[in-house]
Amino acid sequence: MSSPLRGDYSRAAPDYSVEQDWARYSAEEHALYRRLFERQSKLVPKYACPEWIAAIAKLDAASGIPEFEKISRQVKKATGWGIVAVPGLIPDDAFFTHLANRRFPVTVWLRKPEEFDYIVEPDVFHDFFGHVPLLFDQVYADHLHEYGRGGLKAMRLDAVKWLARLYWYTIEFGLMKTAQGVRAYGAGLLSSGGELAYCVDDPRPRRLPFELEPIMRSEYVIDRYQETYFVIDSFAQLMHETAPDFTPIYASLRSSAATAARKPTPAA
Ligand code: PHE
Ligand code: CO
Repeated sequence: MSSPLRGDYSRAAPDYSVEQDWARYSAEEHALYRRLFERQSKLVPKYACPEWIAAIAKLDAASGIPEFEKISRQVKKATGWGIVAVPGLIPDDAFFTHLANRRFPVTVWLRKPEEFDYIVEPDVFHDFFGHVPLLFDQVYADHLHEYGRGGLKAMRLDAVKWLARLYWYTIEFGLMKTAQGVRAYGAGLLSSGGELAYCVDDPRPRRLPFELEPIMRSEYVIDRYQETYFVIDSFAQLMHETAPDFTPIYASLRSSAATAARKPTPAA
């Protein structure tokens, strides 16, 4: 990470977990969270996938920043997942290890009021509103568990760069075909005031069918709306298509990267 992260990492455990310390949130922070929640709540009936909509109804998460432990107990009963508080982005090995053990890391801090519309780093609103509801869906939850295990494997194979693109184009910015049309299931979309409608309605971005290798070959931008989205048919499809061993895919990506590097610069 080049820029310093803004969370407080000084009290984190070796696995980067921290106490949520719920009593320390101010009334202003709860109110800001509520405003974010209310704005997004107007958009999700039209733009979120049905699994997300079904899950949010079960969650008491609208009145203020939720207590992670309460929600964690609820998720555990539903799909075996829990949530852990973290100071912000955490290193790959810690992140993958949490997922591989069915723990979703949720950032403790909330954005500033001037970041209402836009924030680059994940905060508690993004993590909570975007990611946590889908942990109630068994297929999604099982897939995310496999993703975590696949992350630890990708670290051994020096392939995290490619696997991270899969996460980006699915868990963060994925679209899904539904009976009501294209809907968002990616957390970066669900928690975004502007991109949630854009990703579904705007004619400009490409919406390609989900395909593993093209996803792993696609670089992404973190500071503006995506130019390309990948559309799944269902979480079952996502689960099924990511089940095979990625080792040969990584090998082929590595060899085409090497070929590209060897190509002479074309003469002007
Ligand atoms: N099948 C992947 C592998 O062999 C693991 C994985 C599963 C990765 C699900 C992402 C999502 O590496
Ligand atoms: Co996220």
